[in-house]
Amino acid sequence: MSIIVAPSMLSADFGNLDKDVEMVNQSEAGWFHLDIMDGVFVPNISYGFPVVKAIAKRAKKPMDAHLMIVDPDRYLSQFKDMGVEWLSVHYEACTHLHRTIQAIHNLGMKAGVALNPHTPVSLLEDILCDLDFVCLMSVNPGFGGQSFIEHSTEKVKRLKEMIVKNNCNCLIEVDGGVTTKNAAMLAEAGADVLVAGSAVFGAADPTEAVKLIKG
Ligand code: DX5
Ligand code: ZN
Repeated sequence: MSIIVAPSMLSADFGNLDKDVEMVNQSEAGWFHLDIMDGVFVPNISYGFPVVKAIAKRAKKPMDAHLMIVDPDRYLSQFKDMGVEWLSVHYEACTHLHRTIQAIHNLGMKAGVALNPHTPVSLLEDILCDLDFVCLMSVNPGFGGQSFIEHSTEKVKRLKEMIVKNNCNCLIEVDGGVTTKNAAMLAEAGADVLVAGSAVFGAADPTEAVKLIKG
């Protein structure tokens, strides 16, 4: 399977959002990655419903929302209503993770679990085959533009082994510090989806950056 590139709109120009949404539409990107931060689960607040709606209005590709919020169950249906197709919640923010995943599925969305850098992939063993994707954080969530944590590549490999061994139908998404330089290595390790914010929107030619990350 070829790599899906998901530009993180956190690094877009919010004063010129339509232009950046259009760039993603026209590029080889597969998804829009939307980072929702509540200032509680992570030490930053990003954007909320009005911005997601503005992106949704023009997006011609699936939206992948990454909820970095406590108690995400409160908002699942609103993301469905805005047209989000792929929705991930954090392992560290969900006491009843299985129930949350069921709720996402019952709403008709693809369900994912995001793991902080310190959370071992082995903790997903009993839920892996219920997931459509795992979002492996390769930086500590909260900010764009951070450096890739090298150990993450090892986690991608281990997760890939678990998926193959259990014959699950689950994609691996890598999020944080992805660049044109480490993308091929991550694809080789088993990644299916690469999220990239600063490496895309900070590039002189964002369309070309998407192409290079896709490989
Ligand atoms: C971090 C977010 C990422 C971030 C990626 O909390 O989940 O999606 O926007 O940005 P870069 O690619 O700049 O690390
Ligand atoms: Zn993200």
